[in-house]
Amino acid sequence: MTDFETIDETFLRKRAAQKWGPWGEGVISLSVADIDFQAPPEIKEGIIRAVREDRTPYGHHGGDPDVLEVICEKLNRVNNIPADPDDVHMIPGTMFAIFLACYYALKPGDEAVICPGPVYPPFMENIYNSEAIPVFNPLSLQNERLDLEDLKQRISPKTRLLMVSNPHNPTGRVFTRKELEEIAQTAKEHDLLIFSDELYEDMIYEGEHISLASLDPDLFERTITVFGFSKAFGIPGYRIAYMVCHGKHMAALKKRLHGMIVHADTLAQAAAKAAIVHGSPWLKELRTHLRKMRDYSVARLGKIPGVFCPIPQATPFLFPDISSFEKTSEEMTQYLRKEARVVVMKGADFGPPGEGHIRINFATSRSMLKEAFDRIEVALLKI
Ligand SMILES: Cc1ncc(COP(=O)(O)O)c(C=O)c1O
Repeated sequence: MTDFETIDETFLRKRAAQKWGPWGEGVISLSVADIDFQAPPEIKEGIIRAVREDRTPYGHHGGDPDVLEVICEKLNRVNNIPADPDDVHMIPGTMFAIFLACYYALKPGDEAVICPGPVYPPFMENIYNSEAIPVFNPLSLQNERLDLEDLKQRISPKTRLLMVSNPHNPTGRVFTRKELEEIAQTAKEHDLLIFSDELYEDMIYEGEHISLASLDPDLFERTITVFGFSKAFGIPGYRIAYMVCHGKHMAALKKRLHGMIVHADTLAQAAAKAAIVHGSPWLKELRTHLRKMRDYSVARLGKIPGVFCPIPQATPFLFPDISSFEKTSEEMTQYLRKEARVVVMKGADFGPPGEGHIRINFATSRSMLKEAFDRIEVALLKI
């Protein structure tokens, strides 16, 4: 059994450069989407084995055959995606797929519809890097429903890409089969390429993860799906993920990829294999802990007048509405940093539809959360 209460703060402040590193002693970070737990030992052993096997020569472009084999088995069994090794490509991190999809699909002046906004900031950043335009299909943040009528209205002759995050960062929604079928129908009607980021598939507390690419063979060909290891397995530093897509788009993506990277890091691929082969017990324990932390965090925020916090079905995030305090999300994060010495992310980072919210990462110990919410409560009651 992993002890999710033992958080090594000294280690985190030294090594977790994005989440903990920037902040001084005594500041609690509930910001960047790291989990604060040590990675499963089976993953470390997988890497050590690969080192001993001297996996040093250049490998296959798409990934080492033994790694692709277990990934295809998982895609077929868990995601109902009928992938074989030609359909899969190992890549250095999930974020790389966001870049690649935009680089591949968008030209200056094109539009990419984000379903739904708010969304993980690199979606927007990579659209802008392609000199294209992000178009938001807003999510109702009160009832967290997708507005699929609105989605249809957002498609224009310039739309080239439909970008989906499911389970959704930052709201933690898990889209239903019916919602995904409607998204799929819209993509088919307008012959759009879909990018589907499914990185949080292993952090679901309620609901079922359904991959868009599993809906039918046409969807498998028009959807670039990405899965990764950075969140539920807690190994973002190894920079490893995989993309899956069937047919002409995958062939075209591979051509571009092979001019950029020879292949993903061999040791990171060994970590990915170990995560898939040995990771199920770890995932089960992690989800049990995170569900408790979610319930605790929602209950704590629910006691603070003026905060409205929907219950996320997935992800390690809460995305409460703080607009009643009449501060922008930027002002609120600064206030909490100064007054409570707690770091959270501002909703505006997730695009204009995220304004009026903050994002809180609850993937830590209960004692850390208790201290953070004690401080947040005192600070908010002062406003
Ligand atoms: C939706 C989403 N996609 C991609 C990433 C980046 O993942 P990776 O570290 O595997 O590049 C994140 C990280 O927070 C994320 O939330």
